[in-house]
Amino acid sequence: MRQNAPGPLLEIRNLSLSVDTDEGQARILDSANLALMPGSIHGVVGESGCGKSTLMRAVLGILPKRGRVTEGKIVLGGRDLLSLSPAILQREVRGGQIGFIPQDPYQAFNPVFRVGTQLLETFRARPRADRRDGGRANIISLLKAVQLPDPEGALDRYPHQFSGGQRQRLLIAAALASSPAIILADEPTTALDVTTQLQILKLLRGLAEERGLSMLFVTHDFGVVAQLCDTVTVMYAGQTVESGPVSQILATPLHPYTRMLLACHPDRGAALAGIPGSVSSPLRPPSGCRFHPRCPSAKGECSKVIPRRTEQAENQDVQCVLYGAEAAA
Ligand SMILES: Nc1ncnc2c1ncn2[C@@H]1O[C@H](COP(=O)(O)OP(=O)(O)OP(=O)(O)O)[C@@H](O)[C@H]1O
Ligand SMILES: [Mg+2]
Repeated sequence: MRQNAPGPLLEIRNLSLSVDTDEGQARILDSANLALMPGSIHGVVGESGCGKSTLMRAVLGILPKRGRVTEGKIVLGGRDLLSLSPAILQREVRGGQIGFIPQDPYQAFNPVFRVGTQLLETFRARPRADRRDGGRANIISLLKAVQLPDPEGALDRYPHQFSGGQRQRLLIAAALASSPAIILADEPTTALDVTTQLQILKLLRGLAEERGLSMLFVTHDFGVVAQLCDTVTVMYAGQTVESGPVSQILATPLHPYTRMLLACHPDRGAALAGIPGSVSSPLRPPSGCRFHPRCPSAKGECSKVIPRRTEQAENQDVQCVLYGAEAAA
């Protein structure tokens, strides 16, 4: 290992999260692991229902109703976020060290108030925001940073007077208001057309580089991961099955789920494969590796044990019995 190599800025360790529902316990996250290194953009990729949003919300301290963390830690700057009081989480983490960009730019604004009023309100709620001039000058400078046309005039307009891409720029500006060290972005481009999506990805990459931001970027699209991210974690049904540098995982995917997810992408050239079956419900998750009922390489032991994570190549970790790791159930 290199000497003085920086440790992760944010680390999720063995996080399990359950929700009590009327139909029983939903075990949504099952020993999930993730490390975000300083200054990097880390993708979180997986099919719909794999627990990506639940994982992001847990970092923000927002658990589902009747939800609880049954195991694990979320470590930021040496502190376990799960041990902080709601007031400290609100003051120092949400809208402090961590900014959040939501998925749907059409839902995020109240249609009856001017954008300026809404942004100023968000801004004043941020403990670390610069409030000189009531925050107005600072908002205008952020709107310039996100390359919104006519930033001064924008404050007096209503949400419907902006396109989807422009609204997403407004939300990115709001996420930057408290000068966070980390941005969490939950599928921020999914609601946008392909051209606008590319522009927003370019903007996010530029902002991350200029401001030295680290970013967790949730997507179900490996193409977006390839365009934007330095490193990636692949999630399946609440488990994190593989992680590592994007270039390495694209060249040598190891976990059968990663391979099949990549084979589903039109850019991979070959005829689209698809993954037979669907993601299991967290109410009745398969035992052991949750992918085993869909896995073409499954062996008997896959249903019995959760494989241990092992490092197969530099910084590429995989959680699969094919890679020599037997573990306790
Ligand atoms: N409050 C809740 N109560 C019960 N089940 C829930 C709750 N919230 C999420 N789930 C279930 O947990 C699983 C993971 O949901 P989550 O929204 O985190 O997935 P996701 O990977 O973000 O999916 P998508 O790509 O569709 O946004 C799903 O099966 C979902 O139905
Ligand atoms: Mg989601």
